[in-house]
Amino acid sequence: MRIAHLSDLHFSKLTFGLGQFFSKRWLGNLNLLLTRKKEFATERLFLLPQMVKELGVTHLVVTGDLSTTSFDAELAQASELIKLFQELGIETFVIPGNHDHYTASSSKKKSFYNFFEPTFSAESIHSLREDRISVKKLGSGWWIVGLDTASAMPLISSQGIFSEELEQKLIEAISALPKSDRVILANHFPFFEQDPPRKRLIRAQALKKLIQATPQIKIYLHGHTHRHCIADLRPSGLPLVLDSGSTAKREGGTWNLIDLTPTACSIQPFRWQEELWRPLPNPTLFTW
Ligand SMILES: [Fe+2]
Ligand SMILES: [Fe+2]
Repeated sequence: MRIAHLSDLHFSKLTFGLGQFFSKRWLGNLNLLLTRKKEFATERLFLLPQMVKELGVTHLVVTGDLSTTSFDAELAQASELIKLFQELGIETFVIPGNHDHYTASSSKKKSFYNFFEPTFSAESIHSLREDRISVKKLGSGWWIVGLDTASAMPLISSQGIFSEELEQKLIEAISALPKSDRVILANHFPFFEQDPPRKRLIRAQALKKLIQATPQIKIYLHGHTHRHCIADLRPSGLPLVLDSGSTAKREGGTWNLIDLTPTACSIQPFRWQEELWRPLPNPTLFTW
């Protein structure tokens, strides 16, 4: 299996409607005018479907923040991109980030799921939309579990929440899998707490403990920080932690190409350099 991991695409569309002033969207639009429009370059993402197809990618994982203010027009642009991967026969797994449930109204209506599949698999007893969790077998003893830990938050907060209810569902979902199989857990937020509290996952410690107690979880994929990172936390009883970084970031956007076999995983990061997506030297190989 060959997986492309992208995150934090931040498609944006300015709105001038008065309606924005009745929600948090006015703040997102102000940010967009002042900084974000310059910070992200989404047009170069459209080079990726054909490129990853030629690289033999079989699966795509996008760990949230596909939009900026969860505005329908932004989610529609992001879904056009994801459809291009699907049309090339790549299986896609998309979970939301805090920007995709940005306003109270879009969070309540779960607008994100009008554009992206609410579940990874029709056979799954859980759905991201209703249960905030979805599970699918990838093949060769690997499973993917996706979480939706995003919710509309007060004005300057970009927190997420790993609720007790979701914790229980995650425990149940993983215990139902064959014990010898391995799990990739995908969530928008990191479970470590390096960022200021207003940007963190609430109950991140509970998620970390659960991961530590679940050796089947071999890889944790996340975004949110906009910083590319490959961390082997196995000496601390934790999995490989991979942050693709923000793929759309104008200066040095990144993503990871992940090769999986039953016993090994190699990671090749790509970075936008000199007008092209270029592989960084020295891919990393991990074995189990
Ligand atoms: Fe983001
Ligand atoms: Fe985020």
